[in-house]
Amino acid sequence: MSNIRAYRATSNWLCSILFLAFLSLNFNTVSAQDLEAGQKLFKQNCATCHRIDDKMSTGPGLAGIEERVPSKEWLYQWIKNNNALRESGDAYANKIFNDNKKSVMTQFQFLSNEDIDNILFYVKNPPPPPPGEEQVVETEVKEENPLLWLLILLVVFAIVVNVLIGVKRSLKNLLLEREGKDALPDVSHWEAFKDWVSNNQTKVVVICLILIMVGSKNGFHYLKDNVGVYEGYAPEQPIAFSHKIHAGQNGIDCVYCHHSAEKGKTSAIPSVNVCMNCHSSISEGKTTGEAEIAKIYEAAGYNPESREYDKPEKAIKWVKIHNLPDFVYFNHSQHVVVGEQECQTCHGEVQEFGYPMHQENDLTMGWCVDCHRETGVAMEGNEYYDKMHAELKEKYAAEGKTTFTVEDIGGLECAKCHY
Ligand code: HEC
Ligand code: HEC
Ligand code: HEC
Ligand code: HEC
Ligand code: HEC
Ligand code: HEC
Repeated sequence: MSNIRAYRATSNWLCSILFLAFLSLNFNTVSAQDLEAGQKLFKQNCATCHRIDDKMSTGPGLAGIEERVPSKEWLYQWIKNNNALRESGDAYANKIFNDNKKSVMTQFQFLSNEDIDNILFYVKNPPPPPPGEEQVVETEVKEENPLLWLLILLVVFAIVVNVLIGVKRSLKNLLLEREGKDALPDVSHWEAFKDWVSNNQTKVVVICLILIMVGSKNGFHYLKDNVGVYEGYAPEQPIAFSHKIHAGQNGIDCVYCHHSAEKGKTSAIPSVNVCMNCHSSISEGKTTGEAEIAKIYEAAGYNPESREYDKPEKAIKWVKIHNLPDFVYFNHSQHVVVGEQECQTCHGEVQEFGYPMHQENDLTMGWCVDCHRETGVAMEGNEYYDKMHAELKEKYAAEGKTTFTVEDIGGLECAKCHY
């Protein structure tokens, strides 16, 4: 009896689960279609001027758009023909036009209401950022430590020599025994090793030379990669990107591309989407023609002929230039936002740097510390420092000191920079 009941209960459960699964499957396929169509339309028509979450210089961010505008009908009218809507005297249309320095939005009379619904659906449900987003491309870090290898080699070498000596001794002893003579006197391994070394001097010299060569070659790379004094380092990059053309001649702000410098610890290299904001319409450069920009399209999966994103996106493998050792803590936003330091103070006049980009300063401890000794902290009018400022003024009252360097707030303490 109870078996049957249990069976029924389980089969009921199973049925409900299957039914729910079926429902959600159905639901998913319907919405995926809208989303995909919307994404495609958005990328083709709107992405040159609009992003979803933040404002670009070319147009406002579209997140939360349906809550902001007068009505859905208004949206259809605006997107299809914003000119007509503005000329009709519509208050909201004229307001946003003025708020955006009277930049004119393109008209999209060929879009149907259904197309627009799909775009709006996509705007409401944007996909998570692709894996290429915000990625700081790491150079391959050499894991192996050559000093360790040297040590291991030496140990193996010593063991082998030792074993050989042992074998030789036992063979000799065997021989001596057979000839009816006394076995060799017991000597310590060390004595035996010394004997072997003095009898085989050329071998020892050759082996030492090999070890030194292996060790110093690896050791040199090791020191360079890990302790890393890299001033002037300027590796080839996968795309001939020139800061001079972008930040210099075209005056693009550093944080337009490196926006995380103001927000976080690291200052990420922009993702290919950022390049596409402009390069979906700029396909040729003055110095490199179409060749280099074609690599952007390749990475973005963009087909410049059909103006469609029809291939999978690939991350551009930029070679990282600046590389502090792992045991150092450095935070960009602390320096750029709180400390009010210009990018150029640390990176040089980057807007003048052509391809390839290089590292201007050596990033040694001395470099950090010198600046912390000399640079005043902008405490005046900075709430973050009100209390500390008052305390420091009191502490240094006798000297009448009212301005303070990074050193005074503890910027030379080892633990501030070392984990
Ligand atoms: C050439 C640049 C450009 C393109 C392309 C463009 N827009 Fe716009 N859009 C603007 C600008 C600029 C504004 C701000 C109003 C103005 O200045 O006319 C705007 C405003 C809007 C607004 C109102 C925003 C608000 O904050 O109220 C919506 C909605 C909108 N656009 C949707 C779209 C859609 C959807 C597409 C693609 C089908 C699109 N836009 C393509 C430039 C553009
Ligand atoms: C149009 C986008 C763009 C702008 C604007 C821009 N950069 Fe860059 N930056 C890049 C790209 C892409 C790279 C990676 C390729 C390279 O190193 O040349 C990079 C690399 C760098 C690096 C080296 C990163 C590393 O690997 O260690 C520094 C430092 C840097 N930029 C600083 C700046 C400064 C300072 C400015 C403003 C004067 C600026 N950038 C403006 C796109 C930009
Ligand atoms: C804000 C707009 C903007 C962004 C973002 C942008 N570029 Fe450019 N790019 C330009 C302009 C403008 C030119 C100059 C075209 C010319 O030579 O007339 C240019 C030119 C180029 C050239 C050709 C240079 C030459 O003279 O041959 C390359 C390569 C290039 N960009 C790569 C990139 C890469 C890679 C990114 C993304 C990291 C990027 N750009 C992001 C505006 C931009
Ligand atoms: C151009 C000058 C300059 C250079 C170079 C510099 N710093 Fe700083 N640093 C500052 C300033 C200014 C502040 C104060 C920021 C603030 O007000 O919190 C600061 C603060 C700090 C702090 C926080 C100190 C505290 O007491 O809260 C750390 C950690 C730090 N820097 C690490 C480094 C490291 C590591 C380097 C070298 C790789 C470096 N800095 C290079 C100017 C510099
Ligand atoms: C106080 C000195 C200082 C200032 C100011 C500064 N940087 Fe840096 N930057 C560094 C150091 C040090 C590194 C190496 C960090 C590492 O390897 O962890 C670095 C690395 C970078 C990188 C490579 C990615 C990374 O985070 O490792 C980029 C890109 C970059 N900086 C851009 C900028 C831009 C853009 C600005 C201005 C908004 C700026 N930096 C301001 C010192 C500075
Ligand atoms: C303002 C940041 C800062 C402070 C403060 C600081 N260091 Fe460093 N330190 C660095 C940087 C950056 C490096 C890596 C670059 C280099 O090797 O010069 C480093 C490297 C080192 C190294 C590795 C040796 C070498 O030359 O590669 C040691 C050891 C060290 N620091 C010890 C200390 C001690 C001890 C203190 C406190 C008295 C201290 N540091 C304070 C930034 C700092």
